Amino acid sequence: MSRKFIIKESTRNRCKIIKIEQSTLSAYRPISLELFAYLWEVKTIDFSIFLRVESELLEYIKPSELSIELLQHVWLASLKDDAGVDVYVARKDFPRFEHTLDYVRKKKINSLVEKEPSLDRKTLEIFSDMSAASQMVLRGGIDKQVAERVKAAACFMVQNLMDSDSAMATLSRMISIDPTLYDHSASVAMFSTVMARRQYGDKFPIRDAEILAQSGLYHDAGKSCVPNAILNKPGAFTPEEFDVMKSHVHHGFRELSTAIHAGAPIDPLVAQVAIEHHERFTGKGYPYGKRGRFEDDQENGIHPYSRIVSIADAYSALLMKRVYKPALPAEMALELLSKSAPDDFDPLIFEPFVHNVKLSLNALRDAREKEKSRGNIYMVDKGDSIAQKIAETRKADSAKAQVTKPKMGA
Ligand SMILES: [Fe+2]
Ligand SMILES: [Fe+2]
Repeated sequence: MSRKFIIKESTRNRCKIIKIEQSTLSAYRPISLELFAYLWEVKTIDFSIFLRVESELLEYIKPSELSIELLQHVWLASLKDDAGVDVYVARKDFPRFEHTLDYVRKKKINSLVEKEPSLDRKTLEIFSDMSAASQMVLRGGIDKQVAERVKAAACFMVQNLMDSDSAMATLSRMISIDPTLYDHSASVAMFSTVMARRQYGDKFPIRDAEILAQSGLYHDAGKSCVPNAILNKPGAFTPEEFDVMKSHVHHGFRELSTAIHAGAPIDPLVAQVAIEHHERFTGKGYPYGKRGRFEDDQENGIHPYSRIVSIADAYSALLMKRVYKPALPAEMALELLSKSAPDDFDPLIFEPFVHNVKLSLNALRDAREKEKSRGNIYMVDKGDSIAQKIAETRKADSAKAQVTKPKMGA
């Protein structure tokens, strides 16, 4: 039954209310609850937070009015998924919002590295950039601007992370130290790309790695069409709910195909991975029950990128804490995957993946032991960090965009 959200009279008097006409919403961008949660970490904001309640948009928190109480109200309201409430930021303010998120992510990375100095800072900084791109996909829909941002993040990651020994271990360990920094799609993209590069080396060219990385970032794009009440359900799904959940692969494929058709820079293979990432090697997956390798059977086989992403997806999901399950340490997640679903994955990819994650975890453990024997003295590299490089690349990109594109939503 629908739980209608009532706007109190005092709220109506306090907030500016915008009637949503057909074109109004295009000037605003919805934001995910994960990103919204980052606002608890700041004392000031330089943009407004809007709350959409059915056909009205309320300027709910102005920069001068930021308070814990108002953040709490927005949080509780947006959890009531069937009440038709959503959180938005004006498109023209989105760069300011992103700037705030960057600030919070950096703060979180610093405290992560302080707690565990053996983690690879470069991996964490790239991860932070990748999650910013992934969150745009999950809540904001896919348009040309989002696709360009995703492509830039994926290419930057590929060019800077391919051969890092401790990348897989850092991605595996960071979640148990600060779960709020973790982002499922960013981790799937990074695990997939590092996995492929480790296994195939130079036979896996940079251009393919960039497409695979984007496939990871977009693989769950269709989840934006699944209600939060189902996504966050603590108990088992009813058959109907499971059907809705499974539909995310079709939604993702459709959204990506539409964006590609409209000229967004996305390779068609990315859409194929979105619809195939829950297929299983022996045919027990969905939506079509495909099986085996595309290389052997082009009609019913699963594309190699989908086979890689499905492993990263399952591993990343086990690492995460979800409402219906606890977070698992990396070693346990690997063991569980190997024992519970040995036939689900292509053994030619899965076995080297497990081996490489273990090697990476050992490398991280050795680094930690070294730290300990040095009496925990750790030098944080404050010089030419990867974060600086990302910021410079982004500045150059947005300068290019200013010249070639009119401003969105102005
Ligand atoms: Fe999925
Ligand atoms: Fe996923």
